[in-house]
Amino acid sequence: VPMSAVPVYSGNPFSEENLRDSKPLYKELRDLGRLVWVPELDLYVAARFEDVQKGLRSPKVLISSNGVVANPAVNTMSAVQASTILSDGQDHLRFKKVLSAPLMPKPIEGLRGRLTEMIDEKVAQLVNAEPFDAMREIASLLPIGVVAEMIGLRGFTADQMLFWSDAMFDGFAPPSARNEEKTQTANVEFFKFLMSQNRDNLVPGSLGSKLFEAVDAGELVEQEALGLLGDYIVPSLDTTILSTGEMLYRLAVTPGAWDAYVANPDLAPKIILEAVRMASVIRGFTRYAAEDYPVGDFVVPKGARVWLINAAANLDERKYPDPDDFKVDRDPRDQLAWGHGVHLCVGKHLAQLEMETILGSLLRKVERLEVVGEPTPLINSGIQGFENLQMRLHAKA
Ligand code: HEM
Repeated sequence: VPMSAVPVYSGNPFSEENLRDSKPLYKELRDLGRLVWVPELDLYVAARFEDVQKGLRSPKVLISSNGVVANPAVNTMSAVQASTILSDGQDHLRFKKVLSAPLMPKPIEGLRGRLTEMIDEKVAQLVNAEPFDAMREIASLLPIGVVAEMIGLRGFTADQMLFWSDAMFDGFAPPSARNEEKTQTANVEFFKFLMSQNRDNLVPGSLGSKLFEAVDAGELVEQEALGLLGDYIVPSLDTTILSTGEMLYRLAVTPGAWDAYVANPDLAPKIILEAVRMASVIRGFTRYAAEDYPVGDFVVPKGARVWLINAAANLDERKYPDPDDFKVDRDPRDQLAWGHGVHLCVGKHLAQLEMETILGSLLRKVERLEVVGEPTPLINSGIQGFENLQMRLHAKA
């Protein structure tokens, strides 16, 4: 079948309207076919579960080291610094081993007590209070209070991390009036920041200092350790914050969901997975086709770029019945919000632990969660979720 047979999406998937409410776009892309061509962006798109999963399982053909976004200027900068997310093959394995070791379930278990203490104190302040923004007060608390600190940078605030990651995620799409300036500023500043770091500025025992221990062990060179610091900074905060916001929202608005959890707290891991699936905070990364890559009867030609939309795949009715319904017992273990295959997220255990301690704290103190008004959506090319979510927590009698 010639390339021209690939169905075409003639709009801009990153238009403000599409970013504000992406579900109709995702459905249109899934229904157009297994592969879709977007001429405006010179980009192929896969949006169905089966094809996104297959794409993520094909890292030898669909490679990451030529960039993983849909913004050519940003992709060109990709090779400048070492990054797990932007590497392939042996380098990727080597980086990933170092980066993921301190974030496995066992090493992070020691955080549980401190996380629980922090969130318990916050929930105690919030129950029966006036409506508050749950994104700020609850969802951000642990990522900002603990995760930012775990990285171990001195003289550096979580607010800076949040500005950079928001801007860098928004740089996922080609330049527009909204993202151009902030993306460029953030990329330049961030690179300068990373390169200005050194082992003496890192708190001993922190994630950052462990990268330099890997240098001493001969597993990385110094420049690589500096680059990999960025892998802890950019994807660690908004992702967890926005997934937590979705979880709070769904538990509040889905009839029976909170009661089912109260009746059976063992549902917590399933509730977290279901919230992570529905949130699908990172819309999806692109890959560069190092060879022709077939998708059904179509082909992504060698040298082209394809966007694998994890967020659209996670709402695919061909995979999940009633995909827009929050089902506390769905247990979507194969959902793609954390990626899949060799680039599977290294922070998923940490994110799960944070969400678990929040669920536990709410269970102890709260009778019912209430959403007040409508949440405000975040407008960002790379990530999705709520910018603001007004809630009230009703205390247990
Ligand atoms: C709910 C929270 C999170 C979500 C939804 C999420 C999502 C993702 C996704 C979709 C990928 C796949 C990248 C790809 O296919 O190219 C990924 C990879 C990654 N994530 Fe996360 N993430 C989360 C939390 C975290 C945290 C807390 C950290 C760090 C502490 C982190 C660090 C990373 C890194 C370093 C990679 C690259 C792994 C690789 O390329 O092999 N993430 N994440």
